[in-house]
Amino acid sequence: MKKIVVLTGAGVSAESGIKTFRDSGGLWEEHNIEDVATYDAWLHNQELVIEFYNQRRKQLYECSPNAAHYALAELEKQYDVQIITQNIDDLHERAGSSKVLHLHGELKKVRSTIDNSMIYELEGWELKSGDCCEKGSQLRPHVVWFGEKVPNILPAVQLSSKADIYMVIGTSLNVYPAAGLLGNVPNHVPKYLIDPNGSEVSGIKNLTVIKEKAGKGVPELVKKLLEEK
Ligand code: APR
Repeated sequence: MKKIVVLTGAGVSAESGIKTFRDSGGLWEEHNIEDVATYDAWLHNQELVIEFYNQRRKQLYECSPNAAHYALAELEKQYDVQIITQNIDDLHERAGSSKVLHLHGELKKVRSTIDNSMIYELEGWELKSGDCCEKGSQLRPHVVWFGEKVPNILPAVQLSSKADIYMVIGTSLNVYPAAGLLGNVPNHVPKYLIDPNGSEVSGIKNLTVIKEKAGKGVPELVKKLLEEK
């Protein structure tokens, strides 16, 4: 089976009603990254950080996967599909994708602040100040904040280097190391970038840019790939 690796960003979930970060009206226009998405913010204003992610989580429960998520799940009928997502939502999983690697963590999970390996599914949307792990330390959102290491980047690099076909969907390619993954895909591999604001990426060969929203562009490309088989 041919291996399709798909790198997704906030744009793939935009049509599900989840705000992107850097578009006009995006989350980083309403909130300062330094106030809510750094370890420093956690140390100095834990309540605000907890509330920011609680609101994101609450909203996620009201959202559903869109046509792009479903089309990617459909692709598994004939391809070995590996999703690498920068998103912390669970919409790929809910649409039926079976292999999803989260680079920036998972919104519905929380973890211990003294032992990174103690990770829990949060029941419901609300994390509270005072919610602790078994070792007695405050639980934090299981997300990668700016300035923190990205533990899953190594497997993501390996997967990207082994792709037969590569897709990039709905990301501004602004945030590293995720933005550098395209550079690990061999030159001869066909690559597709689906983003209404997408453009050529310097130094990347064999790249087809599809300037469409994910909800239209992804099902169309998936149909083509399934017909080619
Ligand atoms: N379909 C496809 N792409 C879309 C759509 C849509 N309907 N709507 C917007 N986009 C595109 C935008 O054109 C933009 O290129 O989605 C991209 C969103 O970019 P960002 O907001 O920068 O999101 P992303 O690239 O995922 O951000 C990376 O930054 O803040 C951090 O941790 C956060 O994982 C996130 C990382």
